[in-house]
Amino acid sequence: MDKFVITGGNPLHGEVIVSGAKNAAVAILAAAVLVEDTCVIENVPIIKDVKVILEILRQLGAEVQMQENGTVVMNCSNLNTFEATSDLVRKMRASYYLLGALLGRFGKAQVSLPGGCDFGGRPIDQHIKGFEAMGAMVKVEHGNVYATTVEGMKGNSVYMDKVSVGATINIMIAATKAQGMTIIENAAKEPHVVDLANFLNYMGANIKGAGTDVIKIKGVDKLHGGTYSIIPDQIEAGTFLVAAAACGGDVLVKNVIPKHLDAITAKLVEMNVEIEEMDDAIRVKRSGKITKANVKTLPYPGFPTDMQPQIVALLSVAEGTSMVTEDVWDNRFQYVSELKRMGAQISVNGKTAVIEGVGNLTGAPVRSTDLRAGAAMLIAGLMAKGTTELQNLEHIDRGYENFEQKLCGLGAQLVREKMEE
Ligand code: UD1
Repeated sequence: MDKFVITGGNPLHGEVIVSGAKNAAVAILAAAVLVEDTCVIENVPIIKDVKVILEILRQLGAEVQMQENGTVVMNCSNLNTFEATSDLVRKMRASYYLLGALLGRFGKAQVSLPGGCDFGGRPIDQHIKGFEAMGAMVKVEHGNVYATTVEGMKGNSVYMDKVSVGATINIMIAATKAQGMTIIENAAKEPHVVDLANFLNYMGANIKGAGTDVIKIKGVDKLHGGTYSIIPDQIEAGTFLVAAAACGGDVLVKNVIPKHLDAITAKLVEMNVEIEEMDDAIRVKRSGKITKANVKTLPYPGFPTDMQPQIVALLSVAEGTSMVTEDVWDNRFQYVSELKRMGAQISVNGKTAVIEGVGNLTGAPVRSTDLRAGAAMLIAGLMAKGTTELQNLEHIDRGYENFEQKLCGLGAQLVREKMEE
C-alpha cells in the first residue's frame, strides 16, 4: 500500500491535460462484447478500473491489447462464455455492464454482483426490471445474477423509476442487438451515456435520443468493427478546477468539454473563483477568498455526485457557512471525519453536510475512503498548512491517470511512498 506525503500551501500554475473518461471507458469496453470484429478504442485512461475490465474481458476469451498511448485494440469474435464470476468481477462496479453485454450477445448471462466504491446500498433493481421487460428471466442467487431468455432479447418500453446511469447504460447495451424497438423513459443524460450511444452507433447500432430523457434503440442484427475515441473525463477536469481554486494560482485545464462542466464552473464562480471558458479548455484563477455556497448533487445536468467530496473540501475553508446535500447516494460523507482531522468544521445530518468555513486546514495523517473522497483529501492536503500523509491510494489509482505527475507539473508538492508493513 502506498501513501502520499503532501506539503501544502503552494499555489498551482501552468497547464494540465485531462485524460479520457473513466466512466465512459468502462461502459464502452464492456459493450464491445457485442462487436464480433476488431474495435480500436482511443483515449482510454490507463487506470486500475480499466486494467481490471480488460483482464475480465481476456478471461472471457477476448483478444485485448492496450497500448501505452491509451489505445485499446480488441476483438471479441472468439468470446466463448456467458459466465463472468471471477474475483475480479466482484471487485468492480462496472462489471455489471457485462450483464447487458452478454445478454445481448448470447441471450444469457451469469455475472457476479458488483463491488466498487461503498456509498451504502447499490441496488440493481432497475437494471433487472429492464432486462425482464425485454424477455429475460432473472434471479439473484449466491452473489450472482443469472439471466436467461428463450429466444434472445426483445425490444420493449422501460420506464426508469429512478434516474440511473448504470441501468440506462446496461439496458441500452442489452437492447442494441435485441429484436425490435426498446424505449427507455426517464433515462440518465450523463455525458458517458451519450458517449456509449455514439460508440455503438459508430459500430452500426441504431440509437436515438441519448442525452435526453427518452432513448430509442432499434435493434440491429450485427455490429461491425471500427475506431472510436472516448470523451475527456468530466470528473477529472472538475477535480483539477477545484484543486486550482483551492490552492490559488492560475491553471489552464486542457482537453475538456466545457458544457459538461457547467454545473461545476457555475458553483466555482459563485465561490469567487475566476473561470474563463475556451473551445476545449478552461482557465481557472483565484486570488481572493473562497466564499460560501450551497450545493445539491443531482443527475446530469445537475451537480455531479462524483464532485461532492472535492467541493466540500474546498468549502471547508470558505468564508461563511455552506450546505451540501447529497441527493444521489445515501451514505457518501464517510470522508468528512478525515477532513475534520485537518481542522474542518463540518456536521453531517442525513443527506446534508453543514460546513462552517475555517480560515485554513492543517496537515494531518488521513486516509482515502473511496475514489473521489481520496481526490478530496488530496486537495485538502494541498491547501493545508504543513504536511499531510494520505493513505489508501488504491482508491485514487482506480480512477485518476498519472494524478501525482499531473499535479506536480502544476507545482504541487507531493511524493508517493511505500507504507511500512
Ligand atoms: C452514479 C452517478 C454517476 C457516478 C457514479 C459513481 C448519478 C445519476 N449517477 O452512477 O454519475 O459516476 O454514481 O459515483 O448521479 N438506483 C436504484 N436502482 C438501480 C440503480 C440505481 O435505486 O437499479 C439508485 C442508486 O441507489 C442511486 C441512484 O439510483 O441512489 C443513482 O444510481 P446510478 O446512477 O445507477 O449509479 P451509478 O451508475 O453508479
